[in-house]
Amino acid sequence: MIIALFNQKGGVGKTTSAINLAAALALGGDSVTVVDADAQQQAVGHEMPGVSTVPALGADELRRAVSEAGANWVLIDCPPSLVEAAPALPLADLILAPLPPRFKDLSGLAALRETVEAVRERGRPNLLLRVFVTQRDARVALQGEYEKQLRGAFGSLVLQTVVPRAAAFEKADMARQSVLDFAPSSPGAAAYRDLAQEVRALWASSSSSSSTN
Ligand SMILES: Nc1ncnc2c1ncn2[C@@H]1O[C@H](COP(=O)(O)OP(=O)(O)OP(=O)(O)O)[C@@H](O)[C@H]1O
Ligand SMILES: [Mg+2]
Repeated sequence: MIIALFNQKGGVGKTTSAINLAAALALGGDSVTVVDADAQQQAVGHEMPGVSTVPALGADELRRAVSEAGANWVLIDCPPSLVEAAPALPLADLILAPLPPRFKDLSGLAALRETVEAVRERGRPNLLLRVFVTQRDARVALQGEYEKQLRGAFGSLVLQTVVPRAAAFEKADMARQSVLDFAPSSPGAAAYRDLAQEVRALWASSSSSSSTN
């Protein structure tokens, strides 16, 4: 399955999710490639067992990197710009958007749906879209309210997994590791293992029927 981690908002957790979801998918023995399509190149250089990381800038390089990956799972870390991420989106089976429960981030979701709809109309009718809540701080009551609104408005588009806000992510990042290696028993690591399970289930159900988008 080819998954594009995309959200045109910056700093939402695309790169963090590419790294940690890759590490979690690799735990089961599957091969995983992270394609770093962001000029910031923040995914390359991370060391995860069973995961290879390749840089790919520009449409041609990106297409080649994805088609030559030869892995069970290819995760594309997209840049925070629709124009720059545009070549990546039609290559994917699933657009997966990390979404912090903050007002300014929730407001971009309608645009994200339109973007995916446009890609579907241009020849990728089965392109899946899912979002998941990340950087969730249990102490902030308002975030619970936003999450409720999000689930009410977008229903099954929102995955069950919620990634907590945790300092371990930044520390793991500094060590160029996934949080699964850096702090395997942390709640953050557990969340990405759960996310991997949900993504596996989604892939299993979408491979058996093509009408679940
Ligand atoms: N769940 C989390 N808890 C705490 N910090 C997090 C979490 N997820 C990501 N971060 C931190 O937030 C910052 C932004 O995350 P990240 O780089 O993954 O976002 P991004 O969407 O890829 O950003 P950009 O749009 O610039 O590419 C990083 O410093 C990262 O370590
Ligand atoms: Mg990034």
